[in-house]
Amino acid sequence: MSRQGELDKLQQEALAAIEQAADERALDEVRVRFLGKKGLLTQQMKGLGQLAPEQRKEMGQALNVAKQTLQQAIEARRAELQRAALEKKLAEERIDVTLPARPEAQGVVHPVSHVWEEVVEIFADLGFSVAEGPHIETDWYNFEALNIPPEHPARQEHDTFYFHPREDGERKVLRTHTSPVQIHTMETQAPPIRIIAPGRTFRCDSDQTHTPMFHQVEALVIDRDIHMGHLKWTLEEFCKAFFETDTVQMRFRASHFPFTEPSMEVDINCTWEGGQVKVGEGDDWLEILGSGMVHPNVLKAGGLNPDEWQGYAFGIGIDRLAMLKYGIPDLRAFFESDLRWLRHYGFAALQVPTLSGGLSA
Ligand code: DAH
Repeated sequence: MSRQGELDKLQQEALAAIEQAADERALDEVRVRFLGKKGLLTQQMKGLGQLAPEQRKEMGQALNVAKQTLQQAIEARRAELQRAALEKKLAEERIDVTLPARPEAQGVVHPVSHVWEEVVEIFADLGFSVAEGPHIETDWYNFEALNIPPEHPARQEHDTFYFHPREDGERKVLRTHTSPVQIHTMETQAPPIRIIAPGRTFRCDSDQTHTPMFHQVEALVIDRDIHMGHLKWTLEEFCKAFFETDTVQMRFRASHFPFTEPSMEVDINCTWEGGQVKVGEGDDWLEILGSGMVHPNVLKAGGLNPDEWQGYAFGIGIDRLAMLKYGIPDLRAFFESDLRWLRHYGFAALQVPTLSGGLSA
């Protein structure tokens, strides 16, 4: 075969290899095989010196043309491969911008947590801050400081969970109400005081409206000139905001608690028509809280001078509020962790109660 014929064959071979290169790496291997330092075409170029001058010129030109042809073919193929690679990447990374930004939240917020936050929101708006106390209490905080001495009959009513006595005879209790937080607060904050204390409470009791663990929110307001009018107004504002109605009627009933004097229980009007309780309608009454003016002995136990300071306090059952507002009939179901119940009565995770946005909306 003539030199020209051999060169044509080599060029055909190279062009086919370029066309078949599946990616840039393969293409580079083809380039090295033909145009590299020891490449097939390069070797022919090196061999030119052995040719007669006439032939050398002719072959030199032919080789240059072939070299250019191959270089162009390689660049064209490279561009093609790069475009294909980019298109593949774009196709793989395509995102559907109409999809939701994140998966739907699966969990729901328990009605107690939701109502707890509703209550905090309402009282925060009235200028109250949130206080806390321990679940495990001493006899002093749970009873004695609240004017409930050892033989007081109120102790029996509390169905207290007692811990085993310690060596020194002291028996701790699971707090039976949130009222001990009153004492903790008086000990740590100088008056004027305006706090609520939502939290868990414990009593050895279980039926349709009682569970061994339940929730209360305590309120304590202390200043130099606090009177029953402040208490009544605050409770009215709370009920209107919580039940989201202006029509709710309240009945203040004289009562007795060791830690308040005078004491009153508060009922709201409701109807049981259709087997479900509706608040703010009808002429039945439902007790929702206990309250009163802080007893001088309690102020003294908290380290305050009753001749200088006075205040009011109240305690509300959070679970009971949840049952009333959201028509939940059985308290025990609150704490059974039944997912069907939670999905039915629970609140969407992002549905944070605010006064401006609507508490339950
Ligand atoms: N601690 C009471 C209970 O658990 C509720 C209560 C009544 C709290 C009157 C108060 C109050 O602060 O003034 O039954």
